[in-house]
Amino acid sequence: MKLVSAKPMLEKARKEGYAVGQFNINNLEWTKAILTAAQEQQSPVILGVSEGAGKYMTGFKTVVNMVEGMLDTLNITVPVALHLDHGSFEGAKQCIEAGFSSVMFDGSHYPIEENIAKTKEIVAIANEKGISVEAEVGSIGGEEDGVTGTGEVADPEECRMIASLGVSMLAAGIGNIHGQYPENWQGLNMEVLKEIGETTNNIPLVLHGGTGIPNAMVTEAISYGVSKINVNTECQLVFAAATRAYIESGQDKVGKGFDPRKLLKPGYDAIIKVVKEKMDLFGSTEKA
Ligand code: 13P
Repeated sequence: MKLVSAKPMLEKARKEGYAVGQFNINNLEWTKAILTAAQEQQSPVILGVSEGAGKYMTGFKTVVNMVEGMLDTLNITVPVALHLDHGSFEGAKQCIEAGFSSVMFDGSHYPIEENIAKTKEIVAIANEKGISVEAEVGSIGGEEDGVTGTGEVADPEECRMIASLGVSMLAAGIGNIHGQYPENWQGLNMEVLKEIGETTNNIPLVLHGGTGIPNAMVTEAISYGVSKINVNTECQLVFAAATRAYIESGQDKVGKGFDPRKLLKPGYDAIIKVVKEKMDLFGSTEKA
């Protein structure tokens, strides 16, 4: 199976009332775990790559080659999109060139007119190649220098403007935050989500900051048009915990327990487990 645009898989999800997970990748183990989970669950999946992770993996082209190689050698038959997460204007263009099948251009920090102009330009380039585009309105909060900010709430009118530019999906801040949620988090703003859903002509909506949102809130958000949910931190947390348990129990000192293929296996298994649980929760299992 070749990489596919996220547009048809998300339109199907929106119509049928479930969400497709975007799981961020960092390396070979992450990628293999997420693809394996998707295949076993018969679920469509979106592999998210931040610009930082792309750099870490030595560049977007390497990422495309690694993922395409795995689709082939792992016999992946479910739909897989390779998506740039929170891309800059230049980053989005580079990923389109490198062979990504989907990009996010995050212009949420620009004034709305500039966000519109830049989003339009990316849509024009991506459309020519059949690549899906995610735009963002109302930036997603998150931890920065140890300070956790409250997620911004998007203006539904600005969402309507950006949604009408031919983008495939729209990320709108509704009080969601990247990373772990603080104790005093107010929850997702369902009223605003409902309003955005009503003013954006059934465009698939994207929920960032998927780690730590209570299950009932996730299900409710899906009922108002959320069709793509991004999860990153949760996979990192379970990977780290499983690796810590392996080392703390001294297993790396038993036989060839230090072999990286053994050392990284518990973390790899932990990612598979989380991704499968999310697919069940989001309703994408058996929707390939
Ligand atoms: P979390 O790290 O909070 O799961 O958020 C992921 C995300 O939204 C990536 O864009």
